[in-house]
Amino acid sequence: MNKIRKALLPVAGHGTRFLPASKATPKEMLPIIDKPLVQFAVEEAIEIGIEEIIFIISPHKHSIKKHFDFSKSIEKKLIESNKKDFLEKANPENFKDLKFTYINQDEQKGLGHAILLAKDYILDEPFAILLPDDLFFSSCLAQLSEIYHETNNSVIAVNRIDSKNIHKYGVIDPGSINDRFIEIKSIVEKPKPEEAPSDIAVCGRYILNSSIFNYLEETSPDKSNEIQLTDAIKLMLKDEKISACIYKGEKFDCGSKQGYVEATISISLRDNEIKDDIKNYIKQLKI
Ligand code: G1P
Repeated sequence: MNKIRKALLPVAGHGTRFLPASKATPKEMLPIIDKPLVQFAVEEAIEIGIEEIIFIISPHKHSIKKHFDFSKSIEKKLIESNKKDFLEKANPENFKDLKFTYINQDEQKGLGHAILLAKDYILDEPFAILLPDDLFFSSCLAQLSEIYHETNNSVIAVNRIDSKNIHKYGVIDPGSINDRFIEIKSIVEKPKPEEAPSDIAVCGRYILNSSIFNYLEETSPDKSNEIQLTDAIKLMLKDEKISACIYKGEKFDCGSKQGYVEATISISLRDNEIKDDIKNYIKQLKI
């Protein structure tokens, strides 16, 4: 079996939509209550047995690195003040065996460019990509991994999107559909609603064979001078089968204010410590 050991997390973006919060704090470090968004993606990767997290990062986002470093000083303080219950939150056990690698992306030349920077780190094994803006409550990567191991073809996560929002996503042209996955005939990045081949859009999880790097090298920049991963996937489809897996579960686009707030509400309603108070608060709102 072709084990998926490495996951790429592109986190070099400016986070313009979250200014001013993202001016000094990377948008990936903004918390959904008490956990930074990026940690949700890392935990999802751990769930499928990923051994190495490779961040494609912008050099000034030091706090992401600090967040995933083991902190001896916090551990010491928590032990001294008898707050051992917080140790697991500060230095989670399941991060200890994980390797964290950081690759600098100095220029913003698109998602495809970011992924290509990891070519020499991935070499010839299949790998996962997680875009941390998308937050999934039941592991999307686990659903992809099951299909990958069944087919050995690259697989990408998709969900249905209404036509007013379709221009924000990669959109697939679907071929045959079975109850588990869809064969992709073609794919287009951020089409106009009237040109979209379907209402089935790519959400931020992928498991790709390493041959994608050859296609990324062949991909020309788009109108905005960015190299799109979607365009490389389109080239790859000429030679290889790629499946799409319709994600089953709750998903939040935390790159938008609406998705961010919805995720916060939804997580608060799962938190035993606060859920009853939050429910009462929502009930008494006069809206
Ligand atoms: C990226 C991809 C797009 C995909 C989306 C999912 O776009 O380019 O194909 O549908 O992530 O979130 P971005 O949101 O980075 O503009």
